[in-house]
Amino acid sequence: MHYPQEVIEEVRSGNDIVDVIGGYVALKNRGGNFFGLCPFHNERTPSFSVSSDKQMYYCFGCGAGGNVISFIMQLENYDFLDALKFLADKIHYVLPQPQQSQATEAKLRTRDILREIHKKAARFYYETLQSDAEEAKIARNYLDARGINLKLRTSFGLGLSLANWDGLYKNLQKHGFNLSDMVESGLIRTNPRGRSYDRFRGRLMFPILDVDSHVVGFGGRVMDQNEPKYLNSPETPLFDKSRQLYGVHTARKAKQKDIVMVEGYMDVLSLHQAGYSQAVGILGTALTAHHGRLLKRINCNSVTLLFDKDRAGVQAVLRAIPVLIEAGFKVKCLQVTGDAKDPDDFLRMYGSARFGQLLEEAKSHIAFRIDLLTKKYDLQNTDQRIIFTQEAAGVLAGVDNAIEADVYIRETAKHSGISPQAIRTEMDKQRGRYFSQYPAPRDRPKLRYNLRGKTNEQGLLDARKGILSLLLAYPDVSRKMREFLSPEEIGNATEMKLLELAYKNSEKGIAITPAEVIAQFEELETQKQIAELLKDDLHFDNPETMEKSINEMWKIIKRAWLKNRIAELEQTNDQIDLNMINTLGKALRNLEKQYITVTNG
Ligand code: CTP
Ligand code: MN
Repeated sequence: MHYPQEVIEEVRSGNDIVDVIGGYVALKNRGGNFFGLCPFHNERTPSFSVSSDKQMYYCFGCGAGGNVISFIMQLENYDFLDALKFLADKIHYVLPQPQQSQATEAKLRTRDILREIHKKAARFYYETLQSDAEEAKIARNYLDARGINLKLRTSFGLGLSLANWDGLYKNLQKHGFNLSDMVESGLIRTNPRGRSYDRFRGRLMFPILDVDSHVVGFGGRVMDQNEPKYLNSPETPLFDKSRQLYGVHTARKAKQKDIVMVEGYMDVLSLHQAGYSQAVGILGTALTAHHGRLLKRINCNSVTLLFDKDRAGVQAVLRAIPVLIEAGFKVKCLQVTGDAKDPDDFLRMYGSARFGQLLEEAKSHIAFRIDLLTKKYDLQNTDQRIIFTQEAAGVLAGVDNAIEADVYIRETAKHSGISPQAIRTEMDKQRGRYFSQYPAPRDRPKLRYNLRGKTNEQGLLDARKGILSLLLAYPDVSRKMREFLSPEEIGNATEMKLLELAYKNSEKGIAITPAEVIAQFEELETQKQIAELLKDDLHFDNPETMEKSINEMWKIIKRAWLKNRIAELEQTNDQIDLNMINTLGKALRNLEKQYITVTNG
């Protein structure tokens, strides 16, 4: 359900922010800006500001910020649409019936049918598991042997598909579904001779539920040594494994909001059974920004990655870290110990009490990465010790918090026998000189994390922010900047959209107001970030200083993007595009000589 941006603008601009907030907070006018005690955190001296010009609020104490819609969302705990309705009522504005295109309606119809099919299928598999069939007994014994109790089997709706070829097909037919819908569900397939058969046969069935507890797909495990061990639903209009997490429907109700993320279905089940209902599993895929957003939706801000102990598991953790960091999570990492290879093993071998202890030992992702390096290198060997220190400094260069950095520097010094000062120097050098690490932008899960570090994460983030606030405020500059910087080069999805907005608006030649920019986004967290970006007025002494500063920021962004593209191309094994790498490399070298002119005239 969506309203056109014009409708949103009418409601927003019809509600003066100073009036609305003034209804909740006592505001004092101080030189054009209004100040009061922040309603979102406890304070004695006012750090909550409301700007009439920008039609936005920002708290210098807690960082809360946004436009009038954000304020109502935050204060009343409403979602975007409810806040919009609330504000529309206030000014007696009648919101139009939100339009649904025919395409959207058709999509929704398909979605409903596919949900229905999945619901029936889940029931069918569940009942099959309870039946008298010999295979069902074997399956129940298998679950017994793996220690999955009845309560859990019910709450996760575990089931069984028989080895016969058309059990589900016949069942769905009986319910009157037509073949094309069954095929679209991914649960039924047809062969070239037109015969229809079940996708899942002779497997223990794990229904995959979305956050609202609709069955959207299945995983199926063989109970013998056959291959593949697991078979999952294919991508369908309901199911996209890069957007789903196993167990999320239960995790959303968990009191513990520190998510434990594991790799397997069985790991999730074992953890839930041991009382860790905040466990979710990725479904045999890489972690994506969508997964991050899903976790935000269930109010989680902290994730402990607990993947398998093998090489693949460690690689997956290293790739997941930057995705989660970029999505704003606190990230910890953990590995099972002893003879266990995954959490399910661990729980069975050592029990839940020891698991609880293990969980308490989860380290920050920085400590985890440093730890990996200490294992990778022989620290008795001088050459290796130097490489170790360089790589560790690269990791440490990504730590923003000075105190935290200090702790790790000391630890690294202890491991390597290299002085803290030397590590610090190396760290600063890597911070200052290189920008090769680029937080994986949202929606581009393919991007890799450059473990060798050499980062200036903060510098890059600042440049991205700086250039956006500037381009949004100066349409004339924006118009010329188009030629030099394209939206996909700037960073995550929000930043991309902001840059597009700046460019679109530059055609009109008037600066878009901060509140209007914020109104393009429905997520409170995003609105807050943009408010932070737009709260300051930009001042430049003269066009030259502005241009110089644009050039600096532009180069940082461009350099990071180019390096990242190159690294990305180098890592695709299938088809190394040498020409492209060369072109990009050339662009990278040319970049340093370039000076772009985007102000005046
Ligand atoms: N997986 C998959 N397809 C495969 C193998 C694995 O989708 N052919 C996914 C499944 O989600 C599985 C996870 O990767 O749960 C982890 O796989 P693995 O470690 O091989 O299996 P376990 O979870 O340990 O399975 P089990 O304990 O049942 O042997
Ligand atoms: Mn396992």
